Amino acid sequence: MKGLIDTLFEGNNLTNEELKTLIECEDNSIQEEYLFKQADKKRRQTYGNEIYIRGLIEISNYCKNNCLYCGIRCGNLNIERYRLSEKNILDCVSYGYSLGFRTFVMQGGEDLHFSDKDICQIVSKIKKSYPDCAVTLSIGEKDKQTYQDFFNAGADRYLLRHETAIEEHYKLLHPSAMKIEKRKQCLFDLKEIGFQVGSGFMVGSPFQTSENIIADLRFLQELQPDMIGIGPFIPHIDTPFRDKAQGDLHKTLRLVAILRLMFPYSLIPSTTALGSIAENGRELGLQVGANVVMPNLSPTNVRKLYNLYNNKAFVGKEAIEGLEELKAQVKSLGYEIVISRGDAKRNDK
Ligand code: 5AD
Repeated sequence: MKGLIDTLFEGNNLTNEELKTLIECEDNSIQEEYLFKQADKKRRQTYGNEIYIRGLIEISNYCKNNCLYCGIRCGNLNIERYRLSEKNILDCVSYGYSLGFRTFVMQGGEDLHFSDKDICQIVSKIKKSYPDCAVTLSIGEKDKQTYQDFFNAGADRYLLRHETAIEEHYKLLHPSAMKIEKRKQCLFDLKEIGFQVGSGFMVGSPFQTSENIIADLRFLQELQPDMIGIGPFIPHIDTPFRDKAQGDLHKTLRLVAILRLMFPYSLIPSTTALGSIAENGRELGLQVGANVVMPNLSPTNVRKLYNLYNNKAFVGKEAIEGLEELKAQVKSLGYEIVISRGDAKRNDK
């Protein structure tokens, strides 16, 4: 196993069989420890001890989609829906800027109430007031022209997890109206336009096999994203997957580490989902290769409504109020939160 980790560390590819061995490596084993250690070493080689922060603004929990895993699916009649106004959003940005955020992520369900023009207007206002900041959008599947309009308005980055790369699995997680080809096309469109693109998947989503995960890694190799977000699947009580098992902490950490080794230059967040399944989940993520955290900057009254899964961590260090605490904690781990846009350091650009 050590040889496989060294191979990845040196920038060489593994076979599917070899990847499977790493993914299925035993929890808390010496091999796993070595994987984590080498991932941290690689992360320090490319990004030093820097950790980038993103102010996450959850702009709406309305969604036209009905993904089987997601708590804000349109079929969930049990949640209170909200959307932020332009002023709400700009206020979040202004507050975040004063605290040192230089990237703002506008994330939301696919809410048709926001027109493309609305989004463009908000993006261009943010960019005009804060030209030193990056704006990331994470608002789902759109056609290429719309993405182009967002880009022209000043958006820098776009997050759209592919969720799973194999069609049969995709169909088990999504209603038939959603197509994997469309999702992949969106990602390639975004890249072509010039966005820094983020993709990713859930670890331990229902019916997921190691073969699925390997296909996810291969898809990411094809896409070469700037950002890769993964987190454990966490069931939500008001979804068809309410009784499905939660994704595994160690497997998620191993995948963060494998991603760091396979994609040394990528920006990998230690996600809220990871921080939600274990007390120290987010810190562990940072110690095994992740280099981004996304504290919640949404207005406090809506935070508990943006529930993709149950038991979401949205207080304390997960949120903006805990920024000082987060900084201190990160420091105690030997890293440092920096005031920076935190663009990907790519070797091919
Ligand atoms: N558990 C974990 N992650 C989830 N997401 C959606 N629902 C869940 C869930 N139940 C993830 C999806 C989506 C991202 C914003 O959140 O991967 O792309």
